[in-house]
Amino acid sequence: MEITASAPGKVILFGEHAVVLGKPAIAVAVDRRVRVTIRKGKEQGIFDVEIPSLDVQGSIYPEEGTIEKYGHGEAGILYYIKGALQKTGIKGGLELEVSLDIPVGAGLGSSAAITVATLAAAARYNKQDLTREQIAETSHQVELEVQGAASPMDTAISTYGGVIYLSKGEVTHLQTARNLPLVVGYTPQPGNTGELVAGVAKRRNTYPNIINPILDSIENLTNEAREAIIKVEEKRLGELMNINQGLLDALGVNTWELSRLVYTARQAGALGSKLTGAGGGGSMIAYCPGRTREVLKELENLENAFPVGISSKGVTLELDKEGN
Ligand code: PMV
Repeated sequence: MEITASAPGKVILFGEHAVVLGKPAIAVAVDRRVRVTIRKGKEQGIFDVEIPSLDVQGSIYPEEGTIEKYGHGEAGILYYIKGALQKTGIKGGLELEVSLDIPVGAGLGSSAAITVATLAAAARYNKQDLTREQIAETSHQVELEVQGAASPMDTAISTYGGVIYLSKGEVTHLQTARNLPLVVGYTPQPGNTGELVAGVAKRRNTYPNIINPILDSIENLTNEAREAIIKVEEKRLGELMNINQGLLDALGVNTWELSRLVYTARQAGALGSKLTGAGGGGSMIAYCPGRTREVLKELENLENAFPVGISSKGVTLELDKEGN
């Protein structure tokens, strides 16, 4: 038997950082996915993991709860895989192959997508039927255990797909009549989410009368953006992204490299552009109806860039050889 599950990566359109402090955020599942295949392995009691694109091979020993890594890539992702496998109670003696078409460490939700896809594939292999709610909830638990802190946004969007509005842990699906033509630009230096979140908290403690109104403004613009997405008001959506970028800059999470990409995108015709995720490096997004090619070309001159659209498909069982 061989089972493959896939799950999409994500970008945060509005409200990052403010969401940690109780404000809403909007995230979009993108049409770039990770795939996890599970099949019978060679060694009993062990999970052998192969992630060729990251040059990571590893063995997970479920009884001891240990991980051994080979290859030059970082071991980090193996902890999410181990966590997801443990949640299903599946027995070792299996091989897992992971492929990604999203970059890792760029704030595009690769670890959540891998967790969600591993959980879905392992559960099916183990003949367990999990609802989407259970997959989202359990994957979030895994992220919490591995990272210490995590909002439920990444695992929710990777599980459900589409566009979600997250407010105080509650997920609402937003319907939009049209695709969102986005271009992602990513800087080689990943931002450290924990440090950046702590930096915003510190700034808020030092300047509460200045930072609290900024967080309120982000809340207001996220709520306006929710309407603009549903009604497909392109100009308004772009403007709100630009305002959000200015406010993120004021929170101290912007960088010169991100700014350069943000302004280059606007000059090339994007209606809006902003950093996405934690900042301090990582990625930015540009909203470019009718201008995707031009924006992509200009961003590619500076850094890595690629176009994305919305993926309405959340976690999916793709291949199920003899597994039904
Ligand atoms: O870097 P990402 O995509 O994991 O985004 C972090 C988003 C924050 O709002 C800064 C943190 C969070 O947990 O929501």
